[in-house]
Amino acid sequence: MQLTNRINRIQVSPTAVVINAAEQLKAKGVDVADFGPGEPDFPTPDHIKKAAIQAIEENRTKYTPTGGITPLREAIVAWHNRELGSGYTAKECAVNVGGKHSIFNVVCVLIQNGDEVILPAPYWVSYPDIIKYAGGTPVIVHTRQEDGFSAKAAAIEKAITSKTKMVMVNSPSNPTGAVVDEEEYLKILAVCKKHNVWLMTDECYSHFVYEPHKPFSVASAKDSKDRVIVIGSMSKTFAMTGWRVGYTLAPEALIQAVIKIQSQSTSNPTSIAQYAALEAMRGSMETVPVMLAEYAKRRKRIVEGLRTIPGVTCEWPGGAFYAFPNISAHLKGPNALAQSCTEISQQLLEKVHVALVPGEAFGAPGYLRLSYATSIERIDEGLRRLSRFFTRAEAAA
Ligand SMILES: Cc1ncc(COP(=O)(O)O)c(C=O)c1O
Repeated sequence: MQLTNRINRIQVSPTAVVINAAEQLKAKGVDVADFGPGEPDFPTPDHIKKAAIQAIEENRTKYTPTGGITPLREAIVAWHNRELGSGYTAKECAVNVGGKHSIFNVVCVLIQNGDEVILPAPYWVSYPDIIKYAGGTPVIVHTRQEDGFSAKAAAIEKAITSKTKMVMVNSPSNPTGAVVDEEEYLKILAVCKKHNVWLMTDECYSHFVYEPHKPFSVASAKDSKDRVIVIGSMSKTFAMTGWRVGYTLAPEALIQAVIKIQSQSTSNPTSIAQYAALEAMRGSMETVPVMLAEYAKRRKRIVEGLRTIPGVTCEWPGGAFYAFPNISAHLKGPNALAQSCTEISQQLLEKVHVALVPGEAFGAPGYLRLSYATSIERIDEGLRRLSRFFTRAEAAA
């Protein structure tokens, strides 16, 4: 079949590949220790579900304005102002079909052939493919494990050329959990302003940060608005991955372009999901610290557990719900388990039924991503299996 060059430039998300392989095993009755999915294992809070049910009962089931219902756009900017200190108006907000869709729209309206987009690595899997689909070139800037994988302004500035249009920063990060501290974020903003490039800040995990970090948005900085594009999502903060609601905060002209592309593609996000999101933005946030406290316990368990495995090092993630161990010692020398983390992750699934995502998916060979959005019991079971595998006990069995 003759497909377009643009579709041939991208691949199916590697996280989806892992999730599908794990699902196939589970369907055969295999007990998989699943560290694959990047989604909260908590249910959507009741008050949000009730708002959606009420929306259905009140027949709010028709098309809405393309960029989202006005009360939701107003509630999002009010929430962002209250929680993160920005100063947007409803006209500077578009509601999209999840944060991924927000990023896709923004890249499609700003990036074209020949443009460069700077990505600190390890990066979220979808960024490079979205950039390539739009005709742009991802320019990778490696962060260092010693810096906790935090993006640095100086390294970003070095990578800027006359073709650079945008820098994408994701803090807390998927896959590393790295948090860019306030001071460094402001330096990155200053670099973007100096070189007239956009700073896209992906805040999907903004409220899942561990002490001493606090939720932070670079959009709270004075005079940031003309260079910053905020990507937000209901998915993680409110355990709403399936509802598909995200948003973009940006200058009005850019929001108008986002609404234009949306008007010719998805139209509005689902009306019912928008009413659920409205409740998320206006209602109680009491479930958020409850989830965070649980993630904090799991984080301790998994990082400490991984650190007991020979040849494995692991930083403390500052936020999100991912551990990102370095297993490169197991890829070297005469006793190497495999040549790559992709091979290791296949072996882990086959031999000890552990599902996780190889670092190559995030531009970080030598690492693995484990989502700890799963129970302590399952974390313990997974750690036992990983320990068996990496100490070669499995091979001997
Ligand atoms: C860093 C990051 N950005 C954006 C998204 C998109 O989330 P959604 O499309 O569910 O809002 C995700 C989801 O995993 C993510 O990890």
